[in-house]
Amino acid sequence: MGKHLLAIDQGTTGTTALIVTLDGTTIGKKTVEFPQYFPKPGWVEHKPDEIWDSVGAAVGGALAQAQIQASEIAGIGITNQRETTLVWDRATGHPIFNAIVWQCRRTADICDKLKTSGAEPKVRTKTGLVIDAYFSGTKVAWILDNVDGARARADKGELAFGTIDTFLVHRLTGGAVHATDVTNASRTLLMDLAKLTWDDEMLSLFRVPRSVLPSIVPSAGHIGVTKNAGFLPDGIPIAGIAGDQQAALFGQACFAEGDAKCTYGTGAFALMNIGSNPTLSKHGLVTTVAWQIDGKTTYALEGSAFIAGAAVQWLRDGLGIIRTAAEIEELAKKVPSSDGVSFVPALAGLGAPYWDQDARGTITGITRGTTAAHLARATLEGIAFEVWDLLEAMTKDAGRGMNTLKVDGGAAKNDLLVQFQADVARAEVVRPVEVESTGRGAAMLAGVGLGLADFGAAAKMIKLDRSFAPVMAEPERASHLARWRDAIRRTRTASR
Ligand code: G3P
Repeated sequence: MGKHLLAIDQGTTGTTALIVTLDGTTIGKKTVEFPQYFPKPGWVEHKPDEIWDSVGAAVGGALAQAQIQASEIAGIGITNQRETTLVWDRATGHPIFNAIVWQCRRTADICDKLKTSGAEPKVRTKTGLVIDAYFSGTKVAWILDNVDGARARADKGELAFGTIDTFLVHRLTGGAVHATDVTNASRTLLMDLAKLTWDDEMLSLFRVPRSVLPSIVPSAGHIGVTKNAGFLPDGIPIAGIAGDQQAALFGQACFAEGDAKCTYGTGAFALMNIGSNPTLSKHGLVTTVAWQIDGKTTYALEGSAFIAGAAVQWLRDGLGIIRTAAEIEELAKKVPSSDGVSFVPALAGLGAPYWDQDARGTITGITRGTTAAHLARATLEGIAFEVWDLLEAMTKDAGRGMNTLKVDGGAAKNDLLVQFQADVARAEVVRPVEVESTGRGAAMLAGVGLGLADFGAAAKMIKLDRSFAPVMAEPERASHLARWRDAIRRTRTASR
């Protein structure tokens, strides 16, 4: 048997493949980006074949860097952008439409109608989610209703639905397996969160026929083996799957109740392990499956801010005040404070805990003395404040503080952001050396699924970089938070 784990992290803008040794050392890594399609304002699509090609190229690149043969891979862990929705022809395996991406707002009107009809309390109780275009349910129905003949074909059993994990498993196994892991299923609005089964009432509310659904499998175990995948030999087991935020929670070893992590990627996603009860949020968060391993289910509270790193990209691409995303820290450090400037980066609406899809970004407090450096600082602060909103809701829901906050994702390399996060959250913030927690989590799940690692061994795969203790005096913190609350008040619309 091989001695290496292959993690495939299929994300929103690119695919990263990691070759990881059993002690958690990454010896090969390759990221391959792919195009984004915006057919209308607010709509986002991916081409399924371009996703698949990026997976093949990333795996090839990671193997080459690791200087190992594919036959030396003991097993595969998959992690993925969640909620992104595909429907394909069962006979040919060809998707009948592009992937509708989690960020896509095309079903916002359908969601508004469902909310007006009074369905939300029932949906919340059953699924732990809120009715929002973000989740997969309304996206599946949209494809079935908008592709000629699709609904009739689905009723005849000719079509299959899948999130990206399902699509990759289908392709990797040569069409033999149609399965989704329980964490991805918990993002569809179609699964009963307590029973972990597809729910007839939700299927009928969101108009999704049972005939298209994959089977729901645990996050670690024997899911299938490669067959005719093209870039991998046959017979390699797929042994772990989790949505990317859950994989990051696992990859940060947030195994105890109260352990929390925040991933700063395109958006910012904060999750807290809440143990074996799917407690519902009273403060605008969602409840989701963290993982299911050896028959034991762990749940998490999650808060998603749709824009985080993407706000930095906007400073780079939209305003041109930095040339690379990393330059923001240097620019922000040129001033000791944002001088009263606040930036609420609601560029794609406000996610948790506000769920205000009509809100748009606001910059307040601008004076004639405001410079690019103040705006850079306000952007980093805005990201930390958004996350603080999520953490505050989380601690209220959990009725307890966080143990520590573990951070990862590209923007977690930014010391100024992480220190400010520690200050506003009044919590110790811990950063690993390798901020690719998502891929590491997928590799760890595969290790567990193969029986080559347990939780203790998995936790040892993490090497710590440094921790940030809160240092800001309370009056200063209080005045920052008051400024943020005022900016949020000006940003929110009456839509919710
Ligand atoms: O819920 C969406 C999330 O899974 C996307 O993550 O890292 O691909 O932007 P990412």
